[in-house]
Amino acid sequence: MCGIVAYLGDHQAYPILINGLKRLEYRGYDSTGVALHNGSLNIYKKKGKVTDLENFVGEIIPQSTIGIGHTRWATHGEPSDRNSHPHCSSGKKLAIIHNGIIENYGAIKKDLSDKGYKFHSDTDTEVLISFIEDIKKENDCSLEEAVRIALSKVVGAYAIVIMSADNPDMLIAARKGSPMVIGVGKGEYFVASDATPIIEYTKDVIYLNDDEIAIITRNDLSIKNIDDVALTPYIQQLDMDLAQIEKGGYDHFMLKEIFEQPNSIADCMRGRLDAKKGNLVLGGISKYSEALVNSKRIVIIACGTSWHAGLVAEYLFEEYCRIPVEVEYASEFRYRNPVINEGDIVIAISQSGETADTMAALELAKSKGAIILGVVNAVGSSISRITDEGAYLHAGPEIGVASTKAFTAQLTVLTMIVLRIADRKGTITKELYHELLSELESIPEKIKSVLKSNAKIEYISDLFKDARNFLYLGRGFNFPVALEGALKLKEISYIHAEGYPAAEMKHGPIALIDENMPVVVIATSDSSYDKIISNIQEVKARKGIVIAVVTEGDVLIPKMADFVIEVPACHEALMPLVSVVPLQLLSYHIALMRGCNVDQPRNLAKSVTVE
Ligand code: F6R
Repeated sequence: MCGIVAYLGDHQAYPILINGLKRLEYRGYDSTGVALHNGSLNIYKKKGKVTDLENFVGEIIPQSTIGIGHTRWATHGEPSDRNSHPHCSSGKKLAIIHNGIIENYGAIKKDLSDKGYKFHSDTDTEVLISFIEDIKKENDCSLEEAVRIALSKVVGAYAIVIMSADNPDMLIAARKGSPMVIGVGKGEYFVASDATPIIEYTKDVIYLNDDEIAIITRNDLSIKNIDDVALTPYIQQLDMDLAQIEKGGYDHFMLKEIFEQPNSIADCMRGRLDAKKGNLVLGGISKYSEALVNSKRIVIIACGTSWHAGLVAEYLFEEYCRIPVEVEYASEFRYRNPVINEGDIVIAISQSGETADTMAALELAKSKGAIILGVVNAVGSSISRITDEGAYLHAGPEIGVASTKAFTAQLTVLTMIVLRIADRKGTITKELYHELLSELESIPEKIKSVLKSNAKIEYISDLFKDARNFLYLGRGFNFPVALEGALKLKEISYIHAEGYPAAEMKHGPIALIDENMPVVVIATSDSSYDKIISNIQEVKARKGIVIAVVTEGDVLIPKMADFVIEVPACHEALMPLVSVVPLQLLSYHIALMRGCNVDQPRNLAKSVTVE
């Protein structure tokens, strides 16, 4: 949450910061600001999006070759001009941008207020920068030293960049628990929450670790840890290009990412799966594959859509590997006293690799001696770095706030892990193993075929765009898909939606059904087909409107349902990869028709780096 970007070099900082903030807007978009240096610190900030800031600043580009910028997702203090970052220290000598939360800011604020410091915002960030200023004054020390002392006293999470009115040639950046990457160009440096603002200038990057501080000057970059020990920066090459983070002709990132799925799934399998040869290689989890084979229990930790992918994985692991699986919300797991024993396997699923709850849950599991594995999209992210091993999704950057292609890539990776383990354990027959490998390989083509129904789904969306509630029902492997369909709809269209296992309906939700209730039933031809037909009839008997996702060629359900969307036949274990796609499109079109901001839904941010 919150995006930060900073620049120091020979070029004008303002356009670079604005460009970077637009790329980071998915992380938060309730207010925006930049600080520049032109003889003194100049701060421009506004409630609203980056374009609101641009309109506020006007046509004339403020001059400065150093600057910091921020796009906010409010935690402390409502979205407003005065709570927007950058914040200045009390003496106006220092400016800061911050992503994260300073938990003990209340106590620090009280001490500083007692000393006469005045605050102009409700934020923890303003307290932090005045705290640094106070330490600098009290100890008569350098800014670098003051930052180090302050950070050793604060509790919480941060990625910060600081600039000083007294030194237009230096930026100080530090992180703990919030992501930060430094781009190293020719005579210029960039700092950002992720690589997207940096990619067009340089591919050489340094991922700052927790408790590290970077001191960036015009000719040099040095990194120290919080104990003032100098570290050797490790420069890595970015594996990403500009086209991947642009809309490529689509109106929205979400639509682009939905349509990208045939390619992102193929990328995810590339070099790993060759069905003809019967090869399935997952280099990322080779060291612990034996531990997986012998594991007595697996715990999956995730949030939101990634948690839904975890539920599908539970069904897969149990069905094919005969290993019991628990799927935990990271936010609950971390605050319980979960039973984790030495050597237990814990798998974290995360698109961003930065979700604070997932990260904290993993740290807890690690401290109890678990082997922790990651299924992560963002390369170099915090979760990918603390896990013992893992498999990347290789789905490319996902920018739309509503997760789409990451979900199907997560299912693809998890299926490959399951099949690999099941084959090693001998809990799957050779025939079925090979059948599923071929099925998996054919998924991109099947999704292409589903995408051809886009116009029909748009038509159905138009009929239901004004509905106040939606129910999503599924059974077996399609139950997590019902949850995911409901989440997609509510998060971007603000229509209340609930996902349920279809048979649970009669234990409560059936009371909601009347002639105004659209019920999306994922009713593909699988082992629970007869049962789901009964559930459809239960809905129809109460005058509910059924929109059914069915397998091509189904002749029964079209006679009962009000609308049907066909998907190609597929093995039931892999059906979620296909059946989720029409639900993604349905929520996209409904949200668009309701005038919602599809890529940046209200109150949300792509990367939830606060708990
Ligand atoms: C929903 C969505 C969120 C994320 C959740 C976890 O569309 O995107 O529910 O799935 O915030 O995020 P990651 O996967 O980055 O850990």
